[in-house]
Amino acid sequence: MITIQGVKKLYKTGKKEFYALAGVDLTIEDGEFVAITGKSGSGKSTLLNMIGTLDRVTEGTVLVDGRDLSTLSGKEVANYRNKTVGFVFQSFYLEPSYTVYDNVELPLVLAGSVGKRNRARVEEALTAVGLLSKIKEKARDLSGGEQQRVAIARAIAGDPSYILADEPCGNLDTANSENIMNILAALHASGKTIIMVTHDPEDAQKADRIVTMSDGKIVADTKNADTAPQTATA
Ligand SMILES: Nc1ncnc2c1ncn2[C@@H]1O[C@H](COP(=O)(O)OP(=O)(O)OP(=O)(O)O)[C@@H](O)[C@H]1O
Ligand SMILES: [Mg+2]
Repeated sequence: MITIQGVKKLYKTGKKEFYALAGVDLTIEDGEFVAITGKSGSGKSTLLNMIGTLDRVTEGTVLVDGRDLSTLSGKEVANYRNKTVGFVFQSFYLEPSYTVYDNVELPLVLAGSVGKRNRARVEEALTAVGLLSKIKEKARDLSGGEQQRVAIARAIAGDPSYILADEPCGNLDTANSENIMNILAALHASGKTIIMVTHDPEDAQKADRIVTMSDGKIVADTKNADTAPQTATA
């Protein structure tokens, strides 16, 4: 479970100060599929990055499974990023000259697991995204849609509870986007908690809850009628 309480993020550029997050409270239960939407600059990525420890809060707390992320040591942060959360970004961030296998294995290696025992997990992750046949290819030789599927395999190889996806379909065409959304839906069905930032209302409809941000605040938080019968929260 993720509990975000009174989170603010202040950016300073020169003499200008700007609250990218201006007081955010949000609770995400295990197993939810949450879409975060809102205009460009509304703070979506900033919020996701706080949950992922890619950035630090200025004020407030982010609790993940009861642990305050700001209290983690360097080693604990590294462990958290490799085991508790899996990241998927708009621009994939694969290592182009590495094979598909090596890209997917990377978080396992970073978490201290080396050698042949990683093989089964890499193969399982690639099977989940339908790309086992490309295991020996270089990442740069894959299509954009395939590269994003490899990025998802990499995100799930360490079996994290939380998948954090920032515009995962942002660089993809309709067919590939649909494929990625179906993979995320399947991961959700298998019990993963998914938090996905998206501009696309259609993609947001795949989630069971839609959180809308504006000017660094949450301005709407609704259960998605298409996927869940409950009435609106908040
Ligand atoms: N490192 C930074 N330094 C200064 N300002 C920043 C920094 N990162 C983000 N911001 C500002 O914080 C605000 C929120 O940024 P954020 O990236 O969270 O928006 P977003 O909702 O993800 O937008 P988009 O849909 O365009 O990705 C923006 O105005 C942005 O310019
Ligand atoms: Mg963003």
